[in-house]
Amino acid sequence: MAQSVRCCCWLLVLTLVALGITAAVVFVRHKNGGGGVPGSVDPKYAEALAVALQFFQVQKSGKLVKNEIPWRGDSAVDDGQEAGLDLSKGMYDAGDHIKFGFPMAFTATMLSWSVLEYGGAMRAARQRDSALDALRWIMDYLLNAHPSDDELYIQVGDPEADHKCWERPETMSEKRPLTKITAKSPGSDVAAETAAAMAAASLVYKPIDGTYSSSLLRHAEQLFAFADRHRGSYTHTFPKLSAYYNSTTYQDELLWAAGWLFHATGNGSYLSYATGENGQEFADLGNPRYFSWDDKRPGTQVLLSRVSFFASQGSGIEQDSLDGVESYKQTADAVMCILLPDSETAAPRTEGGLLYVADWNSLQHPVASAFLAAVYSDYMLTSGKTELSCGSQTFSPADLRKFAKSQADYVLGENPMKVSYLVGYGDSYPQQVHHRGASIPADVDTGCGGQEWLESPEPNPNVATGALVGGPFRNDSFVDKRDNVMQNEATTYNSALIVGLLSGILSTSPVAQSLS
Ligand SMILES: *[C@@H]1O[C@H](CO)[C@@H](O)[C@H](O)[C@H]1NC(C)=O
Ligand SMILES: *[C@@H]1O[C@H](CO)[C@@H](O)[C@H](O)[C@H]1NC(C)=O
Ligand SMILES: *[C@@H]1O[C@H](CO)[C@@H](O)[C@H](O)[C@H]1NC(C)=O
Repeated sequence: MAQSVRCCCWLLVLTLVALGITAAVVFVRHKNGGGGVPGSVDPKYAEALAVALQFFQVQKSGKLVKNEIPWRGDSAVDDGQEAGLDLSKGMYDAGDHIKFGFPMAFTATMLSWSVLEYGGAMRAARQRDSALDALRWIMDYLLNAHPSDDELYIQVGDPEADHKCWERPETMSEKRPLTKITAKSPGSDVAAETAAAMAAASLVYKPIDGTYSSSLLRHAEQLFAFADRHRGSYTHTFPKLSAYYNSTTYQDELLWAAGWLFHATGNGSYLSYATGENGQEFADLGNPRYFSWDDKRPGTQVLLSRVSFFASQGSGIEQDSLDGVESYKQTADAVMCILLPDSETAAPRTEGGLLYVADWNSLQHPVASAFLAAVYSDYMLTSGKTELSCGSQTFSPADLRKFAKSQADYVLGENPMKVSYLVGYGDSYPQQVHHRGASIPADVDTGCGGQEWLESPEPNPNVATGALVGGPFRNDSFVDKRDNVMQNEATTYNSALIVGLLSGILSTSPVAQSLS
């Protein structure tokens, strides 16, 4: 890519498509954007990023290509066969072997967002290819899982049966049933999250593989239409699945997908969707929340604030939509205000300084929130906005960045337990991660009954490098036991979140480049 197009390519593309008026286009240069040239790279975060990305290699299903994890091999190569589909790729969700479409699609959306904002810094740290490799493995799966307009396979494997077994993926022999949503059995949340993943990935692949990118975008638009036309929550359609990734509502995913589709297509109808009636009804504007696999509202607020930060006069975007976007941005401001530790509306945190929202997988919320803070700080800097108002207080982009780093530093070992919650990073990290493959020696075929390895007091024989475990309790304590699912399970989406956060703070130069 030419030096003159250092600006964030996807914003540029969006602007061009949306406007069709080249004369009015202002090229916004975004610090670490797509092809951007970052400042120097912080070696600590670069090393942690390299570690975190390894987890996607650990979690791969299917016939492996250039596998570098010595204890992993081919598995689930027949997934999808009963429907005449190749659903062998994709990634196992966590310490189990289910391919849950809802969190897997979210993983892909987050990987894409990270590459889009911070691809330049990732490249400088020589980690961009690793992120793209992981993304492609998921997108290939998701494309195959969407064989016709109103048909999406959202799960491979039977979680009840799978969770009763303790075995390596390479030796599993249980049936791998498929679950799909259709017009009659809807799942707007999972369909819209998959649409978001496809739209975001289409932007990533645009400069790399145009054909692939177009295909992703086509699927994204179809899936969004399907999700919107046949409304319903997938865990309402399949009540048994509410025991795993219960989707509280599909409303947030519809807006999130519309936001990504607007960025990917420049088609104003997607922006009107998010800012019009649906936005009023679904967005819960004014109430700051915590970003997670279940709640995409804060992510959507930040994503759409992009339009508010960077839209230029005469951008061709309708005034109603711009007003609507402003409400999203105001709510994004409020989200930032609860994240900042010195703000009057600061959310609770542990004595060690970790934002604390939930006991189960406690790290997911602080890490996801810290990613948003890093992104927001960069939007502010790049657009020349130096002040964030929180009631009577004023904060700066540097305050947001400081918060983002504090959460990453906590994860990486600056915490009362002096433990790194990122497996494989630092001298001290969890040894008994709740992960079937990591806990069983590679040459052992347990069949379903490998429980002795679950119960073993010994460290895992294999290191699940890059796993971000659930994390500490409210009192900063952590128990490194394999059956401690609440604190010590690894999840694929957790690793995507920490990849985003580390990419966002990778560049040591928090100074925005000039806009000229
Ligand atoms: C799943 O979410 C729905 C909607 O919020 C809720 O009514 C239900 O109780 C939840 N189920 C479980 C098992 O958490
Ligand atoms: C924008 O998207 C809407 C909804 O998918 C579609 O009906 C319309 O044709 C699109 N407009 C353009 C210019 O592509
Ligand atoms: C910390 O909190 C956990 C969960 O509430 C509790 O089981 C544990 O005893 C506490 N540890 C300390 C040191 O207070």
